[in-house]
Amino acid sequence: MIAKIEQLLTEVEAATAANAEELEALRIKFLSKKGAINALMADFRNVPPEQKKEVGMRLNELKDKAQEKINFLKEQFENQESGTEGIDLTRTSYPIGLGTRHPLSIVKNEIIDIFARLGFCIAEGPEVEDDWHVFSALNFAPDHPARDMQDTFFVEAQPDIVLRTHTSSVQSRVMETTQPPIRVICPGRVYRNEAISARAHCFFHQVEGLYIDKEVSFTDLKQVLLLFAKEMFGSDTKIRLRPSYFPFTEPSAEMDISCNICGGKGCSFCKHTGWVEILGCGMVDPNVLDANGIDSKLYSGYAFGMGVERITNLKYQVKDLRLFSENDTRFLREFEAAW
Ligand code: DAH
Repeated sequence: MIAKIEQLLTEVEAATAANAEELEALRIKFLSKKGAINALMADFRNVPPEQKKEVGMRLNELKDKAQEKINFLKEQFENQESGTEGIDLTRTSYPIGLGTRHPLSIVKNEIIDIFARLGFCIAEGPEVEDDWHVFSALNFAPDHPARDMQDTFFVEAQPDIVLRTHTSSVQSRVMETTQPPIRVICPGRVYRNEAISARAHCFFHQVEGLYIDKEVSFTDLKQVLLLFAKEMFGSDTKIRLRPSYFPFTEPSAEMDISCNICGGKGCSFCKHTGWVEILGCGMVDPNVLDANGIDSKLYSGYAFGMGVERITNLKYQVKDLRLFSENDTRFLREFEAAW
């Protein structure tokens, strides 16, 4: 019996398996019910009592060695097959630090979502633009102060090329390629030559809106803006339109909302007026329609433009505009829960 055990032990030690079938054959040979080790176990009762202790120990040793070997071979070729030797696939992963969405993106997306529900599509245009799309096509007189060096960044050696000062430039890009009905929303970055401070920056973000069709009226504009204000700032929000002037709209207006910080009662944010300005708007000037290839006798339209930083400040009371572009993660992480 001992000799038989020794022989099997040598076989176990020498055993190899190149694939799953060979391994299974080994398992059947040594460890299955009808395998060699079980056969010896069955013979155990015939072992003389004085040898039982030693034979029993050797038998157990053989069984353990066979099991160990089979486990070892199994592990070895499993690792070979998946090419993950040395990698513990059952280990839990390290936590991955997820980034957060930028507050301006959160608010921009909210604005887009509201207008998308009203059927507006997104249109985009270049940030480096020509004078025509930023100014001339929008009815800016040649001597309009907005063209002044103080406001506009000019691209060196190309006086006709500027960094766009507003997203209204996308209006003219859309009009020159599309006939009404036009219903677009144009988000984007704009640049102005301003000293950087808590309240001003040389770049910021706007969302422009443009709607052109037959018989579009100021009432349509007002209704859409009221709906926007309620969706954005809550259903109690009121709006008020004050007459204003923009070269590309006639009539033009600026829109205030009831201060959402004090609820209209008056606070330092609204300078105790109860109202805060959030956008400019108006009916597209017929000159603009005609300059961009749309017949102003057939069509009319409205336009509006708002600053994303301004709306974000109102929603989240960010006091210093510079925080938006400094990438301080302590600030950015505060918006983790906002989307
Ligand atoms: N472009 C204007 C600005 O940057 C905002 C604006 C006002 C856009 C009136 C419009 C509008 O479309 O109708 O200050």
